[in-house]
Parts: sequence; C-alpha cells; structure tokens
Amino acid sequence: MAIRKIGVITSGGDCGGLNAVIKGVGLMANSMGIEAVIIPNGYAGLYNLVEMQGLTRLTPGRLLEIEAGNAGSEAGHSRVKIKKINDDKRYERIKQGLAKFGIDGLVISGGDDTGSVIVDLSAQGIPCVHVPKTMDLDLQSYSVGGDSAVNRIAQFMRDLKTTGLSHNRVVVLEVFGRYAGHTALRGGLAGEADCIIIPEIPVDFDIVYAHMKKVFFKRVLDSDVKKGTYAIVVAEGINDAKGQAISDKSAGVDAFGHVKLAGAGKYVRKQLEDRMKNDPDVTDFMKKSFMFTPGVYESPEIREVTPGHLVRSGISYAYDINFGLRTGAAAVMLLARNVTGVTVVDVNDRKIEYTDTAQVIKQRTVDLNEIALYETLGICFGRQPQKFEPELEKKELPITRCL
Ligand code: F6P
Repeated sequence: MAIRKIGVITSGGDCGGLNAVIKGVGLMANSMGIEAVIIPNGYAGLYNLVEMQGLTRLTPGRLLEIEAGNAGSEAGHSRVKIKKINDDKRYERIKQGLAKFGIDGLVISGGDDTGSVIVDLSAQGIPCVHVPKTMDLDLQSYSVGGDSAVNRIAQFMRDLKTTGLSHNRVVVLEVFGRYAGHTALRGGLAGEADCIIIPEIPVDFDIVYAHMKKVFFKRVLDSDVKKGTYAIVVAEGINDAKGQAISDKSAGVDAFGHVKLAGAGKYVRKQLEDRMKNDPDVTDFMKKSFMFTPGVYESPEIREVTPGHLVRSGISYAYDINFGLRTGAAAVMLLARNVTGVTVVDVNDRKIEYTDTAQVIKQRTVDLNEIALYETLGICFGRQPQKFEPELEKKELPITRCL
C-alpha cells in the first residue's frame, strides 16, 4: 500500500529529543512527498481522533516553529493504554478516526507501555512504526530522552555538591527511572557521586554507612579548611536488603496503572541518620573537625533533594537530537516500505536497523558485571564490592557509530 499520510504520536512520559523525532518525521515525510500530521496528546488523541475537526500539518513552515533543543513534545502526551479504555468499539473508533483524516500509518514514540499498544494496533491491522523513547533507558535498544536525563542528573549532582560542601553535609539526590537504575547509574557516574543506589542491587545500609564514614570523615579531616561532602544518587525504585520495594505507596497510581514512586531519598536519609545517632565515632569526628558545638551542632546533617520531573525537562542534549532526527526520519522510510509493527533501533551507514517491537520493550536492567568495575574504582553500590574480572575481546573495524 502506498503511504500518503502519516500521523505522529508521542506517548508516555515526555523527555528530551522528542521534538527532534517529530522534526525527523516531518522533514523526511516532506522530502518524500508524504503528508505528516500531529495526532495530539498521545493515545488519548488517537482514541478521540474521530471527533477532531482538523489536524496540524508538519509543513516546512510549521516545523520551523518547533525547537529541537527544547525537551518535551510539541505533539503532547498522555498515559493511556488503548486496551484499558472502557469501550468495546475502541479499535473501530480509532480506525474511523484514521479513515476520517486519510491517515495510512503512524509513527509512535514511546516506551514499553507505548510499545505494547503498538503491538496491539499492529495486530488490528493499523500500520505503525515505533521510535524508542524513555528517559528510563530500560528498553533493549537506546531510547531518545536517556542522554538528556543523564546529563541533567549529572548537573544536579554537581550542583548539589557545591552546597553540600559548603555545609559539610551528606547530600542525597533521588531520581526518576522506575525499576531500572540506568539513569541513576549514568548520571551518578557523570556527576561523580560517591554512592549510587539502584533497584538492581538490594541495598545494605550498613555498607553505605560504613563507606560514607570512611570517605566523608576522611575528606573533611584531610581538608585544609575542614570541608567535605558525600554525594549519593538514589533511583526512585530501589529495594531494601530483603528485596522489598521501599516506595511510599500513598502516591497512588498513574493512568497506565503503575504505582507512582516516591520516598527513596527520604528513606536513604533516615537510614543514615539512624546509624549516625548511635555511632560514638560521630562526636569524635565533629570534635576533630572543629565543628562540634554542644547542644547545637553535634552531628553532620543529611539532606535529600528530589528534582522529579526536572530531570526530563528543559533542554534536549545533542545526542538525543541526533538520535531523534535520524530515527524519526527512518521510521517514515520503514512505513513507506510497508514495514510495520517494528521499532527503529538506529541508522548506521545506509542501514536502517529495526527489530520487533514486542522484543524491544522487554525490560533491560543494569549490567551488574559493569558495576563491579565501578566498585573497583571505589564507588559504593550498597553491597559488598565485587571484584571486576574482565574478559578480553578484540573487535574488527568498523566497530560502531561514534555519535
Ligand atoms: O517512565 C518515565 C518516568 O519519567 C519515570 O522515570 C517516572 O517514574 C515517571 O515517568 C513519572 O511519570 P509522571 O510524569 O506520570 O509523573
């Protein structure tokens, strides 16, 4: 079937790079003589398409109004799963909407939940191609938004350390990422955190506390001006030493039906505070660092900060803009060749790499072998440090794309 008109949808949580995806779709469609339109506000808009009066066309002029460097999405978002809509005729309604506007195919950018809907829509005979998107980085392939979030987290970590250092405080940064620790790990490494707590490793706070004491106390005592901080990044979806989720369930659930995660930073602070209260070495440390003031300041303070949605807001970083542009464009070319129900992995050389959406949405967790490497470098992950045992592999050139 010849594709004449494409609808672009962004779905799930917003993030960096999405406007580049939209531009990639629009610019490629224009160059191929295909019309591209925005279906607004994710799957909520797709469901209600039939009632809309008109759609915004991604003409060259309209595309100029979209700034690829801005995070978020010009197409808007919702967390709606089509399967969950209380309407037996939901797929018929979607097909009527697509027919009303003469839309022959969809480019849909989103994460695992969005991808599962793409699998559904494809089974219903609706041509669609997936552009992977999630700041959580938990898909099997790279997803637009990941690098922007990691850069933001790294910057928050660095910023937080300037105030932590001024007050000789332990600082805890709680970050989004759901049940995968990729963003906490990458952002924490880039921001030079001392300790990174991720869902993949049930955390033993005795180990974190011992590491904190060793690193923080030494840092302050060795400093000529008696200054130091200790920085922790904690992923929102962490588990305690027994593997139990610590999230504060009172936050409720989102429209996809997922528990909204909250409270990890506070939990970490309390765990460390409890240990500090009962530790006689703390008074000794405060005295040796000339901070001890009886009844006023007898122990170092711990502060947690939760930037929440700020980690996926603001600007898109260059990697996401590059990736978004080329994968958005590639999605149009796949649709034009009637390849549907698939996810664009990347474009390398002249090859558009793609895979089955049903496969790519399987959750990817942090590689614990790699963690052992960082433990060897002295970073604490809340467990007994493991030894990094490398295997060597010589690769033939060309290896892979560089950016
Ligand atoms: O899945 C992306 C994500 O940013 C998660 O890391 C976070 O838990 C969630 O979205 C927050 O979603 P919402 O925008 O619905 O509060």
